[in-house]
Amino acid sequence: MDKNSGFATKQIHVGKIEIPGISPLATPIFQTSTFEFATTAEGAARFAGEEQGYIYTRLGNPNIAKIGAKLAALEHAEAGMAMASGMGAVTTVMWTALKAGDHLLADDTLYGCTFSYFTHGLTRCGIDVTLVNFEDLEAVKAAIRPNTKAFYFETPTNPSLKLIDIEAISKLAHESCPDAKVIVDNTFSTPYIQTPIDLGADVVIHSATKYLNGHGDVIAGMAAGSQEFITECNMFGLKDMTGAVLGPFEAYLIDRGMKTLDIRVQKHCDNAMKVARFLEGHPAVEKVLYPGLESHPRHELAKKQMHNGFGGIITFELKCSREESAAFVNDLKLCTIAVSLGDAETLIEHPATMTHSTYTPEALAQAGIGESMLRLSIGLEDAEDIIADLKEGLDRIK
Ligand SMILES: Cc1ncc(COP(=O)(O)O)c(C=O)c1O
Repeated sequence: MDKNSGFATKQIHVGKIEIPGISPLATPIFQTSTFEFATTAEGAARFAGEEQGYIYTRLGNPNIAKIGAKLAALEHAEAGMAMASGMGAVTTVMWTALKAGDHLLADDTLYGCTFSYFTHGLTRCGIDVTLVNFEDLEAVKAAIRPNTKAFYFETPTNPSLKLIDIEAISKLAHESCPDAKVIVDNTFSTPYIQTPIDLGADVVIHSATKYLNGHGDVIAGMAAGSQEFITECNMFGLKDMTGAVLGPFEAYLIDRGMKTLDIRVQKHCDNAMKVARFLEGHPAVEKVLYPGLESHPRHELAKKQMHNGFGGIITFELKCSREESAAFVNDLKLCTIAVSLGDAETLIEHPATMTHSTYTPEALAQAGIGESMLRLSIGLEDAEDIIADLKEGLDRIK
């Protein structure tokens, strides 16, 4: 595969597995827990790392290795890997990057379970965790300690769509703490829109459950970074700490989903832009947050670090009571009430009581996740039909 090939070519062809004499176009599913050795010497050589080859699926499997290579190519990283869930990716990377006595500096707006893992999980194991608003570079600077070993953030953030300047945070982090890792959860943008490693980040994490798969039928996670760090994540974080190994069948589905990543994400972006403009113009809508709107507080940063579009997620608030807002959501016909995002279907949820219910009321307020905030994951339907569904409900609000 030519290193200079375009995004679409890479998302289809990177990692192709050749099986002489059979040559299947699609990669077969290597549904096996273990791999045979011809001799004891061969087994010993593989365990010693003296000979290349598969050993046992928790240590490696062709379907899993293939999507790791594909993500690395798309994220402009040296290496990539897959895990059993997005949370499996977050925990595997953090167990690898941190040890007792280290300090983690993270943005204050995180996916609910990441927030819970950082504040309740890592802290139980002797890791200090500070959450600050990463939009505020001075606040980040002030929170850095001599033992800060990782900087972690999402951009856009889930669910408030706050934008963090990847280049500025990476520069500050590396200048202040040369051996710290800058880790970016790129789930919302995917490498089609944003490549954090090009902007100075060290590691990229994905809930591959979302856009990378794109069809709402898999739970999976992925990470990409330097060869050295990803090898450590594989041979320590995943193998010995989390054991969050992705199944070969799920890896096959992610591989299939990734072949159409660019055209899917482009349609999500195009639809979301139309829906965001519609919502912004409706009198029953109090506030719309979408990085592609000129009214987004960091629209200029969005234009600088996001390409091809601004993603498929919109958050908004209505000019009505909690009860009327709930009735609006309940009465929608095309938009489905469900958590998750990045699927073909348009999904709507209430972050404060669903995806971010792990937050305390104070943490919700700090992260700007209001009681009335609704999150839409715009699907691949016709934008006009999504708008018509929303309009019918909005027009009923007095
Ligand atoms: C931004 C983000 N990161 C991580 C995760 C966790 O991913 P998973 O549900 O695949 O474990 C999610 C899940 O919603 C998410 O939205």
